[in-house]
Amino acid sequence: QMEAFVDDLIAKMTLDEKIGQLTLLTSDWESTGPTMRDTYKQDIRSGRVGAIFNAYTADYTRELQKVAVENHRLKIPLLFGYDVIHGHRTIFPISLGEAASWDMEAIEKSARVSALEATAEGIHWTFSPMVDIARDARWGRISEGAGEDVYLGSKIARARVRGYQGDDLRATDTLLATAKHFAGYGAAQAGRDYHTVDISERTLRDVYLPPFQATVDEGVATFMTSFNEYDGVPASGSRYLLTDVLRDQWGFDGFVVTDYTSINEMVPHGYARDLKQAGEQALNAGVDMDMQGAVFMENLAKSVEQGLVDVADIDTAVRRILEMKYRLGLFEDPYRYADNARQEATLYKPEFLEAARDVARKSMVLLKNEGNVLPLAASAKRIAVIGPLGNSKPDMIGSWAAAGDRGTRPVTVFEGMQANARDGVNVEYVKGASYEFADEGKTDGFAEALALAERSDVIVAAMGEKWDMTGEAASRTSLDLPGNQQALLEQLVATGKPVVLVVLSGRPNSITWADENVPAILHAWYPGTQGGHAIADVVYGDYNPSGKLPVTFPRTVGQAPIHYDMKRTGRPIELGEPGAKYVSRYLNTSNDPLYRFGYGLSYTTFGYSPVVLSAPSMGAGGTITASATIANTGDVAGEEVVQLYVRDLVGSVTRPVQELKGFEKIELQPGESRTVSFSIKPADLAFTRQDMTHGWEPGEFELWIAPSSGAEASTPVTFTLTE
Ligand code: IFM
Repeated sequence: QMEAFVDDLIAKMTLDEKIGQLTLLTSDWESTGPTMRDTYKQDIRSGRVGAIFNAYTADYTRELQKVAVENHRLKIPLLFGYDVIHGHRTIFPISLGEAASWDMEAIEKSARVSALEATAEGIHWTFSPMVDIARDARWGRISEGAGEDVYLGSKIARARVRGYQGDDLRATDTLLATAKHFAGYGAAQAGRDYHTVDISERTLRDVYLPPFQATVDEGVATFMTSFNEYDGVPASGSRYLLTDVLRDQWGFDGFVVTDYTSINEMVPHGYARDLKQAGEQALNAGVDMDMQGAVFMENLAKSVEQGLVDVADIDTAVRRILEMKYRLGLFEDPYRYADNARQEATLYKPEFLEAARDVARKSMVLLKNEGNVLPLAASAKRIAVIGPLGNSKPDMIGSWAAAGDRGTRPVTVFEGMQANARDGVNVEYVKGASYEFADEGKTDGFAEALALAERSDVIVAAMGEKWDMTGEAASRTSLDLPGNQQALLEQLVATGKPVVLVVLSGRPNSITWADENVPAILHAWYPGTQGGHAIADVVYGDYNPSGKLPVTFPRTVGQAPIHYDMKRTGRPIELGEPGAKYVSRYLNTSNDPLYRFGYGLSYTTFGYSPVVLSAPSMGAGGTITASATIANTGDVAGEEVVQLYVRDLVGSVTRPVQELKGFEKIELQPGESRTVSFSIKPADLAFTRQDMTHGWEPGEFELWIAPSSGAEASTPVTFTLTE
């Protein structure tokens, strides 16, 4: 039925109307709300644009939809897209923070709440999830993904797609998801955004592509191209990525949108001599929709006339887009998402705020807790919150929270600490320092902060990065605390008062000095609308932290890019004496990171039994089960992320020192223990072999069940995979 409907419609369309369906333009924004240039409205009226982004609210999307369906003979509804990245109105932690929860249910819930709020405001489509693997903390967009790991990243990618799209595309709370940015965007050289990507096809296939393929398996509706080139070809012009891999190998049946003006950017890339050629390259490579560049709109008809683009290929793209509109039910009722009563009843529901608080506290990672400074003792009656991130609403939200309120709703650290304080506890706040780069070396505010510190029992130093120091176009060459925060931190520690450093940031920071000198460190990311409450929950002990790092924290920026599943090299450091030359090491810094992937502390402790394997070997159709018993050896209940790592000892190509192959988050009462089992099949051990085929190879493997990566230091069990 859908096919016949769409074919019939395409048969009635002029070439310009078809190209219109391939065109996505932005709405503008003024303080009063979204607006639209008159020329764009005219384009909608005449069928020259088929989709709009950055327009929302039931009223406004209804108004634009009316322009589309009441003025044009074909009455084709508009599709409304938006960057709903980590919440729409109710903002959850930034995506990297959510990843630190290792909690798929919580992550799916966050996406579902985002979908409920966004669709209630007329939005059909989100440009999320961002599934780019990122291993270089200099790259600001590391904050938008799920971290460095293929396995964890793929699970999270699927959870997010499920959360956004729900079970039924026809439901009005379905938000079409977008897997972005296809592909390799996270591998920008030197961590500089939009920079060249130059990685092997094997690395692309084994590291960067699997989370994208996972979204296809989960039924993701759309893909977005990336700004970078891959193997010399800008992604928006890459037939290899958009057709060979995405369509032919993976069978993706949704549509592909470019990133913003990335077709136009093929000209400065030096890949197209002009916009017309760029449009041809994009369409012929497999792009369906042009975001904001108007290249298709302005040039494609001419390219058809000149025989450089085939109308059949345009029809294919149009069909994919119209089918998506059909599947959403927009041809039956173009206004079905624009419902004021639903909007009124949906935004900022108390249960959404509660979910945001819950995900936020699950995302926090306790990096250090010497002397059990945390949770704060009942004797800590005077609490000093100090630092530029201590009482700053916008900073709680992080980047890419387009419709999120930065001004009034976010609960700051200070507000959360005050609101949740026990009777008789007094919380005071002084900013003390600045995170602005230009303020490095200044000491304004230090005296006031130190005076507060002196009259307090404990200092909660809320420091880190300003919210827009990560996200798009926010690369840094340093991972240190910016501005004069480090200097103030050192002076606060020198007072002798216990200091808890709460880091708010969207990337791993090289807080090496703090690790050596500050007793307690909590990485809180940008925790969202309810962030201050969530931080208070952890600091006061109302919630026992359970987050684990989804990215490696380097000691120094000089270690970047760094990730736990590195290769060994022919001269691994352990082959030399300490300090030896001619092994793979730095002269001035350890090879080890500051904090490993998968690492995170709890207010309790967990003991791991030796691993038991169900068999010492398996063949092609076999399975091995690996089990370990985990015990809560402390005094309070806690959650632990039990992680399974495997190392393939010898391959037809060199293999990583270890790879995450499973994890399970469990909750244990004090004294309780549980046996956690993981099944491993040969296919789980597959990789891109020397001949570029994907599959496993027989051989010896080492295996660990551990609380974090880096378990290579402990004794693994071994098994054999036979032919
Ligand atoms: O979705 C984003 C993308 O991640 C970066 N460029 C702009 C797009 C739309 O806002």
